[in-house]
Amino acid sequence: LATIGALALSLAPATSAAKREVNIGAVFPMTGPVATYGQESVNGIKLALKKINKEGKITINLKVEDNKSEPQESANAVTKLIKSDGVDAIIGSVASSNTLAGAPIAQTNKVPLMTPASTNEKVTMTGDFISRTCFTDAFQGVVMAKFAYENLKKKKMAVIIDNSSDYSKGLSKVFKAKYQELGGKLVSDEDFAYIQKDTDFRSLLRKIKRTKPDAIFLPGYYTEVGLILKQARQMGMNMPFLGGDGWDSPTLQKLAGEAVSGNYISSHFAPDDKDPKVQAFVKEYKAAYGQQPGAMAALGYDGILVMADAITKAKSTKNVDIQNAILATKDFSGVTGTITIDSNRNAKKSAVVLETTPSGNIFNSKVNP
Ligand code: PHE
Repeated sequence: LATIGALALSLAPATSAAKREVNIGAVFPMTGPVATYGQESVNGIKLALKKINKEGKITINLKVEDNKSEPQESANAVTKLIKSDGVDAIIGSVASSNTLAGAPIAQTNKVPLMTPASTNEKVTMTGDFISRTCFTDAFQGVVMAKFAYENLKKKKMAVIIDNSSDYSKGLSKVFKAKYQELGGKLVSDEDFAYIQKDTDFRSLLRKIKRTKPDAIFLPGYYTEVGLILKQARQMGMNMPFLGGDGWDSPTLQKLAGEAVSGNYISSHFAPDDKDPKVQAFVKEYKAAYGQQPGAMAALGYDGILVMADAITKAKSTKNVDIQNAILATKDFSGVTGTITIDSNRNAKKSAVVLETTPSGNIFNSKVNP
């Protein structure tokens, strides 16, 4: 019996010479309040897939599930992809609360889940099958605290958080600690807060206006941020607002119009970056979709390329081999920077500070980790 087993094994390579084919599940918000994240991600992923499948080393079959911008739907989507579709790995999601809801299911089933965009610290702490190809909020928060205090020289700030978002809560904490360490003052010990789907922020803004901040940190998502900016400017609050990657959506400009002017965010990608690789991507994306790519388009594109690279190099398409290959990612050159997965399964890479303008976000500076 032992001999037969060994024989069968030695014959295996000849019969599996065919191209590696894998099924990848994608969990993204295609509808709901953060829908542009999903739409841009899937656009970016599809652009990369054309390249991957044409190169011919592997074939990726993509199965997209809409999490409707909701944590419970994200968990359901991960369960479905694993139990009904039998996917080999999962890419997604974007908003950290959504990824946090799905990740424990991938971990329990030992299916690799890699998020291209969720920055909350807790995401990859879920377990050894969970990784990300973006930086974390521990980095992004420090970048913006320094930018506010050192570059803009703002000495007294207010912070507004989205109480329904793990991302907003985590990022505001990092920002406040670093800003105060640098010497900055907060107008209040308590947080000014709203929740997703709120639409009237005027009484909150009135309270903040009375405290006379030099600038306001607003780590929210574009749907609420767009309305907050507009209402604040209408109320004569003309100080700069600072935010994070959650602002990075073409819809922000549509919602806020002129009110986006004079504000700054940290993000993953600058469409006006002079790097030829970035410019080639921007050109290709615009030709395919008739729109300038935002951060999520670029992150989705890089994310699936990292996954494809790992699958090509993996010992086999077994879950554990794919996961080990993802974790071995080193110096992968993407349009969002150079990606190396560290021992905590996070990506060490640079951030950019962008100025938001009505015609789009423009590069201000790059910050290395
Ligand atoms: N970092 C955000 C989060 O964790 C998601 C995001 C990434 C949004 C990139 C826009 C662009 O919730």
